[in-house]
Amino acid sequence: MCGIIGIIGDKPVTQRLLGGLKRLEYRGYDSAGIAVIETDATGAKLSRRRAEGKIHNLEERLKQSPVDGILGIAHTRWATHGQANETNAHPHFAGRVAVVHNGIIENFMALRAELQEKREFVTQTDTEVVAHLIDDAMKSGLSAQEAFTKTLKRLEGAFAICVIIDGIDEHLFVARRGSPLAIGIGEGENFVGSDAIALNTLSNDIIYLEEGDWAVLKTDNIQIFNADDKPVTRETVRVSGSMAAAEKGNYRHFMLKEINEQAETVSHTLTHYVDAFHMRVKSPEQLQVPELDFSAVQRLSLMACGTAFYAASVAKYWFEQLAKLPVDLDIASELRYRQPVLAKDTLALAVSQSGETADTLAALRHCQKLGLKTAALINVSTSTMARIVDFSLPLNAGPEIGVASTKAFTSQLTALLALAISAGVQRGHISPKAEHELVTALTQVPRQITQALALEPQIEELALELSKSRNAFYLGRGVHYPLAMEGALKLKEISYIQAEGYAAGELKHGPIALIEEGIPVIGIAPLDALFDKTISNLEEVATRGAKILLITDAQGAKKAENLKGERLICPPTHLHTAPIIYAIPIQLLAYHTAIHLGTDVDQPRNLAKSVTVE
Ligand code: G6P
Repeated sequence: MCGIIGIIGDKPVTQRLLGGLKRLEYRGYDSAGIAVIETDATGAKLSRRRAEGKIHNLEERLKQSPVDGILGIAHTRWATHGQANETNAHPHFAGRVAVVHNGIIENFMALRAELQEKREFVTQTDTEVVAHLIDDAMKSGLSAQEAFTKTLKRLEGAFAICVIIDGIDEHLFVARRGSPLAIGIGEGENFVGSDAIALNTLSNDIIYLEEGDWAVLKTDNIQIFNADDKPVTRETVRVSGSMAAAEKGNYRHFMLKEINEQAETVSHTLTHYVDAFHMRVKSPEQLQVPELDFSAVQRLSLMACGTAFYAASVAKYWFEQLAKLPVDLDIASELRYRQPVLAKDTLALAVSQSGETADTLAALRHCQKLGLKTAALINVSTSTMARIVDFSLPLNAGPEIGVASTKAFTSQLTALLALAISAGVQRGHISPKAEHELVTALTQVPRQITQALALEPQIEELALELSKSRNAFYLGRGVHYPLAMEGALKLKEISYIQAEGYAAGELKHGPIALIEEGIPVIGIAPLDALFDKTISNLEEVATRGAKILLITDAQGAKKAENLKGERLICPPTHLHTAPIIYAIPIQLLAYHTAIHLGTDVDQPRNLAKSVTVE
């Protein structure tokens, strides 16, 4: 987590570093800081400004107390070690050295203990020790570059770091191990950032450092070395310069914009995975993964975190029902510690919006070590996951900026359903007629999403009631059980309401004890084979005083007319596509509840969009 950016050039850097930090704010926002080498008549000197809270606080600080130079580094933080305050904000200084860092230095306590006698530590962070190690090595007579590389060898953990040194205005030192880092090539200047988004508007020619790489950036050249300190050449990739999708437009929040974009973003995903002319799923060759053969796979291992995990959880039902493919499902942070027994004919499939989530990456790498083929369904096509797996499967949902994931979720579901159909076809469980019917249903999803979005005014009113409660339940069965968990997660993330998503039938085995007069219980139940059972479970809580909101279709509403409470009526859907459409009301409900409560919807407390620490 955390976002970093650095510039070495011939023009002032402060405003451009700030711009980069704003683009990186999705990675964390509990403090921010900037350090530059200021050059004036008296020479070059290291200066910094830092502020607790979001980037605009740093911006204000810089207005009151400007600082600029032609070499600088900056950081937006998501705290891991040490409170989120100004002292712990990056850049960290020690002697002549300034460091920004993303990730965790796991052996920082041991290193700190070693230096404690001769060095004064002023923060509780793991990062400060890096600055001390470099400065200490320089004091012992090493050059800046030698001190930097010597320090890298002492560090354990996953990190990306950038370093500038007082008195040296021609070098910017950077290194990557575990956390991503991208170099942007400029004219007469060069850039470094946590990702290509940070470097947007600065450079479209990007070099992604590989695991263990370190580099020295100068204004007119970039030298890259691998973990063995051997000079290496890394490919330069041209990335799209358009950040249009990252603008809010007329919407009050990115989240609302992204919710409203879903008919379009799901269409983009569909275009990649289905041939809507012949109503067939695209072949592996058409998807540019010719060797992705589900008929050669005996088992699928799905791994993901957060919202992506709930998308994977829905997909487990699809792969098992449609392709008769047994599925293991893991929260990515648990997979390698569970030590699962994974035979070689298992395909590991990770789901991740960012493609950078540390836990998901570690799970994938674990599967690679076991000799499995790996695939990843990701939204950021230039991400680490996209580069390390055998089969990279894009989402094409466009940049998602709101921290609470919305459009990535519906695109994940869409792509996963298309892949499950593909697996069913390849494994001989789906006939051409059934394939035609399923793909037709998929192509109807964008229209049904538009219809579901029309529920917004009614949802806004229902959200007012919900915002008055401190607790809530979401219930569902079958594919709607993971959707219930996603609904609860959305509420937790942005409205801070304590919400639980439960399998409707499981509630009576314990949590029903929590049901009391007036507690909101939201049931997700289109009219399908499990409908009657879910309604019975909702009756059980209604009789105990729960306030019911049933999200269903017109037929379901008719059938459950005796159930007390409110209704949200979604358009009729196919049995398998229903979770994609039913995602819309749960997202809107969370959004409007948060608006009524006045929380920071796009940047909820304690969260970050992309979690690149374990
Ligand atoms: C963070 C975000 C969640 C997201 C999860 C997984 O916790 O706050 O919204 O679902 O990471 O992210 P990924 O990029 O791997 O989908």
